[in-house]
Amino acid sequence: MTLTEPSLSAPVRVASKRTILMCRPDFFTVVYRINPWMDPALPTDTSLAVRQWEALYTIYVDLGFDVRLIDPIDGLPDMVYAANGGFVLDGIAYGASFTYPQRQPEGPAYMDWFGANGFEVRTPENINEGEGDFLLVGDAILAGTGFRSASNSHEEIGRIFGREVVTLTLTNPNFYHLDTAIAVLDPQPGSENPNIAYLPNAFDGASLEILRERFPDAVIVNDEDAAVLGLNSFSDGLNVVIASRAADFERQLRERGYNPIGVDLSELLLGGGGVKCCTLELRS
Ligand code: ARG
Repeated sequence: MTLTEPSLSAPVRVASKRTILMCRPDFFTVVYRINPWMDPALPTDTSLAVRQWEALYTIYVDLGFDVRLIDPIDGLPDMVYAANGGFVLDGIAYGASFTYPQRQPEGPAYMDWFGANGFEVRTPENINEGEGDFLLVGDAILAGTGFRSASNSHEEIGRIFGREVVTLTLTNPNFYHLDTAIAVLDPQPGSENPNIAYLPNAFDGASLEILRERFPDAVIVNDEDAAVLGLNSFSDGLNVVIASRAADFERQLRERGYNPIGVDLSELLLGGGGVKCCTLELRS
């Protein structure tokens, strides 16, 4: 029995099988600091990172997802955060162009994988970190800026996919990618009133106004849950894989008829990433 049963008025949630790309953290460690979570002075345990990542992988496989793998590359410790490898929609892969030199070689590595796996690759002209900052919600792309992806990449992605792009400005360095501050709960393209969850104080005033207006029914996540990267989660429309420590977010999801599934990625949190960071959606 669960502690919180979905309320009677909660809509019936429907799961849809996702196709995703992941990268095993065989070379994960923290040797540089490009976000406030990273501290090269703290020890990391690569084999624990691999075991925790495998638990996430197994959850996805058990949910019936088609999970594809890209080979990790020695010397690219952040490659496990596959969400940053690009943005894939309509069979087109818009490549990433990373902000910091330490991650720049990942851009071509992911583009090579997309090309070799049947996607039409668009080489980026502007700095962007893929699904870290671009989230498809219904038919619109929510696009983050402020720390990583440059605002001219928002225009570029709009041209490539012919979708509405909604620029949102991040202001809290702990939530430097959009996928650390917003969770997409209803991922099916074209789903009616697709909903999100977010952390209000990650955004500037103008962005907050946009979020309130577009998503009046959004799940508001508290600071405590955001501080374990609870928002960095992955939903199939019913099942939402989240950080196991995000207790209030878990309760709110249950109340709304979702099925939260907790996973502990404490080791990958040392690099500033969670569930979603390890997950790149491939939409054909
Ligand atoms: N250490 C990585 C970086 O700072 C973490 C990336 C997290 N990825 C994400 N999609 N939020 O770039």
